[in-house]
Amino acid sequence: MKKINFPLNKTETGVSWLIPGALTLVSTYNSKKEPNIAPKNWIHPAAFSPPLIVYSGPLFATTEKNIIVTKCFTINFVDSSLAEIACNCIRWFGKERIAKSSLNLVEASKINAPLIAECKAHLECTLYNMYIHEHGFVVLGEVVAVSIWDKILHSGPEEQYELLDLTIPRQNGICTLVNKIKPIHGFSETIQIHKKKVEQYLKEKS
Ligand SMILES: Cc1cc2nc3c(=O)[nH]c(=O)nc-3n(C[C@H](O)[C@H](O)[C@H](O)COP(=O)(O)O)c2cc1C
Repeated sequence: MKKINFPLNKTETGVSWLIPGALTLVSTYNSKKEPNIAPKNWIHPAAFSPPLIVYSGPLFATTEKNIIVTKCFTINFVDSSLAEIACNCIRWFGKERIAKSSLNLVEASKINAPLIAECKAHLECTLYNMYIHEHGFVVLGEVVAVSIWDKILHSGPEEQYELLDLTIPRQNGICTLVNKIKPIHGFSETIQIHKKKVEQYLKEKS
């Protein structure tokens, strides 16, 4: 097996392409109980006991600002029917993002953060620890409640993943654990819009 150098500088998604992760929407409240949602797919289990998950976020994001205030957040798993909404929602920010996504937010059972009703599974997390480095936050959350569509829990191991229908972002689209890549209409354009916003932020900051 011949190994060649991986062109790290060619694509910012190079590393995440090697470590694919399930697409989720992280939902939070701010101090005025205004909700926010943001797609995240760099989420990993970090410990079994207590059940910890870890994910990373940029310094400028609303989600992490909210988590600092409320000390909690919900991870909502995104299936293929919701993937387009989840991926493209970053065209907008704050209230507009919530309105354009047309998702229904309901109260979580144990924490001060909303759940997205249309999602089939949710992890309610409290903030266990947060590390700040030059380029962003590393958030360690303790999972204090899990809710899942009853049909998934009551079905066999084969059917469970099919029903959960986890999606994994890929170049310009998503794939599922069972299907081949499914293009997302308008996603490349969304990424360009997003990049411009980030560039603008960095410009204003410097
Ligand atoms: C499919 C997809 C996956 C993403 N995954 C992550 C992630 O894992 N971590 C992260 O920091 N940003 C991720 N982002 C970018 C954030 O969602 C984006 O910066 C968003 O605007 C943050 O929203 P907020 O400021 O309301 O928190 C992802 C975006 C998309 C479209």
